Amino acid sequence: MPGTTMLTPHVPSLYDPINVYKPVAADIGIVDGPFEYLTMIGVRLPLPFTTRMTVVHLRTGDLFLHSPIAFDAALATQLQSMGTIRYLISPNQFHYAHIGEWSRAFPDAITCASPGVLRRARARRIDVQFKRDLGPNAPQEWSDEIDQTAIPGGIFGEIVFFHKVSKTLILTDTIINIELDKMSQPWRLATWLTGMYYPRGQIFFGMRLPLLLQRKKSRAAIERVLAWKPERIILSHGRCFESNANAILQRTFNWAL
Ligand SMILES: [Fe+2]
Repeated sequence: MPGTTMLTPHVPSLYDPINVYKPVAADIGIVDGPFEYLTMIGVRLPLPFTTRMTVVHLRTGDLFLHSPIAFDAALATQLQSMGTIRYLISPNQFHYAHIGEWSRAFPDAITCASPGVLRRARARRIDVQFKRDLGPNAPQEWSDEIDQTAIPGGIFGEIVFFHKVSKTLILTDTIINIELDKMSQPWRLATWLTGMYYPRGQIFFGMRLPLLLQRKKSRAAIERVLAWKPERIILSHGRCFESNANAILQRTFNWAL
């Protein structure tokens, strides 16, 4: 019960171990990263949050890195032992900051841009080049194994992915499920007020109004996600949902349908 621990002092904690591949199912796993910090108008706020990369091992031997975390040489070596680091994916305008680091280490990798991310990176002078744009349909290179669609959300709009064989939905910020015990005050209280915390998780609050304003597009995207019938959901922030994905999606998206 969050209210009972709300005022207890806590030290923010990570999803240890970090920077190592953790299998989730056949050919898909996650890598939890170090803390990142929210910046506003170029100022770094003292708000540490955890982030997570998803790695899909394609049948060609290529690796698909969704939302790469900060580059780490030992992690890169581990991933190289598993396959070829081929696709570096920015799923939304807020997850791209480390793609430049990975692409400088692996210049043959194909950097893939979410809509609007290049403009955002340029405005913030983040050094990253993109070779490919992502859209609502999966490109031929991975469409047999990974499907995708675009969830409308204004600047928070996101390309979401579905790994078919493991029935895993890969989300970035669309659903947030922060574990309050991993946060310190005053951020823990602020997160509690948003309702976007474990175990229920919620649609990221910044997406809700844009989802309603583009109801037709939203409904089509949500229905496509539901039709995939995912069994688990990987999230970039907070605790993933290892099972009951369909019930979680029904609960979180129902109001937008
Ligand atoms: Fe995020």
